[in-house]
Amino acid sequence: MEALSSKFLLIFFSFSFMIHSIQATETNTLFIRNSCSSTTYPRLCYASLVKHADSIQTNRMLLTSTALNVTLASAKSTSAFMSTLSRSRGVKPGEVAAMKDCVEVLSDSVDELRRSIGEMSRLRTSNFELTISDVQTWVSAALTDESTCTDGFQEINAQDNIQTLVRGKIVQVAQLTSNALALINKLATSHG
Ligand SMILES: *[C@@H]1O[C@H](CO)[C@@H](O)[C@H](O)[C@H]1NC(C)=O
Repeated sequence: MEALSSKFLLIFFSFSFMIHSIQATETNTLFIRNSCSSTTYPRLCYASLVKHADSIQTNRMLLTSTALNVTLASAKSTSAFMSTLSRSRGVKPGEVAAMKDCVEVLSDSVDELRRSIGEMSRLRTSNFELTISDVQTWVSAALTDESTCTDGFQEINAQDNIQTLVRGKIVQVAQLTSNALALINKLATSHG
């Protein structure tokens, strides 16, 4: 009887613990969904951030930093992809040149995003207005660099398959960057 009731208690407690964590997860994902609704690409925003829901919880600062980290990772992998693509067979010289330009502007973009992430970590301890304004500047510059890359490809009339491949990758980075900027702007206006 004793054993049975302690077993029962154990089940009861694990069950209530489960319910609690399910509720917390729901609150966290809802927070991401709501925050993403004000970005230009809300579905991409949500999809890119929901896997970090447990660490973001309902913290706007963490949400914004995570969005920047995700964007940086995407810019880095896109740059590596372009660099590999420029060395693959069947790519025309004009396309190689455009890809190299892209790798260059993407590396600027990566630097700008890194700086933004560095500034974000100082947000709590330094002048908020000045620091967030720096972050806005860097992220806007990153976005401009990324559009330089897509423009370059449009100008040279690249082969369709390459155009599609490159656009898909760059558009993804640019959309993530644009979303991050929207979240930063929201953070800037919600403060004080
Ligand atoms: C973002 O990346 C930096 C550097 O890798 C890391 O220190 C920081 O914890 C990350 N921030 C979040 C919110 O994941």
